[in-house]
Amino acid sequence: NNTFSTLFVGQNLIKLKEVDSTNNYLKNLASNSEPLPEGTVIMADNQFAGRGQQESVWQTEAGKNISTSIYLKPSFLAIKKQFYLNIAVSLAVADALSYFLPLAVAVKWPNDIYYNRKKLGGILIENSLTGTTIKSAVIGIGLNINQQVFKSDLAEKATSVFQILHKELDLELVMEKIFVYIEKYYLNLKSEKYSILHSNYLKKLLYFDLEANYIHNGQVFEGKIKGVEESGYLIMEVDNQIKNFNFKEIEYIHTN
Ligand code: BTN
Repeated sequence: NNTFSTLFVGQNLIKLKEVDSTNNYLKNLASNSEPLPEGTVIMADNQFAGRGQQESVWQTEAGKNISTSIYLKPSFLAIKKQFYLNIAVSLAVADALSYFLPLAVAVKWPNDIYYNRKKLGGILIENSLTGTTIKSAVIGIGLNINQQVFKSDLAEKATSVFQILHKELDLELVMEKIFVYIEKYYLNLKSEKYSILHSNYLKKLLYFDLEANYIHNGQVFEGKIKGVEESGYLIMEVDNQIKNFNFKEIEYIHTN
């Protein structure tokens, strides 16, 4: 069996053949068996009701990809700084994948993982709050690793490591890299390296400071991402004006 070269992430490991959603499983576990050790990881070969951001569905091919959830207790993090947890995890996943891939891995705001303008995976963080800080966080990560083909509706937008490298990777090796980087960036977060995290995030942000097409309320417009606020709002330049967008307000238009 495996032991990851980490301090705590993945040291308490629960492997499942199949589950509705690793995030659901971990949330139930945390509420039924407190205290759950920080760094507890659920990994599943298959999810039959995987969840994505904004109530979307996350589909994955059984046995081929990464579906994992990590339990963290960032009680040091003020609620108003919670977007930094998204930043830390996005950077960790991007760095871990960069280790295996020839070109840069990008983060599409707020926390999709992109390669060559196609989605490699996503992150779903679910926080449980107490007063002014975060009591615990379930970090769900779904990545297309060894999947070779996508259903026609996804084929244009999604990619996998296999499609890039034309070979399969050992899923646990990739997870180990992810866990190592999560620890690294989590430590940055703990030691309040906010400006470093923020500037690294902007460096990896897809279309940062580049003209691209977006949709807002059904309207297509051209804009340039200029930054991201501490709240996570996107700062864009549109027609020489600065505008802010909340998470659900804006969508990228897929260009290829
Ligand atoms: C997104 O791109 O919208 C986020 C996708 C997150 C998927 C992962 S897979 C492991 C974890 N369990 C879930 O149900 N969702 C996340």
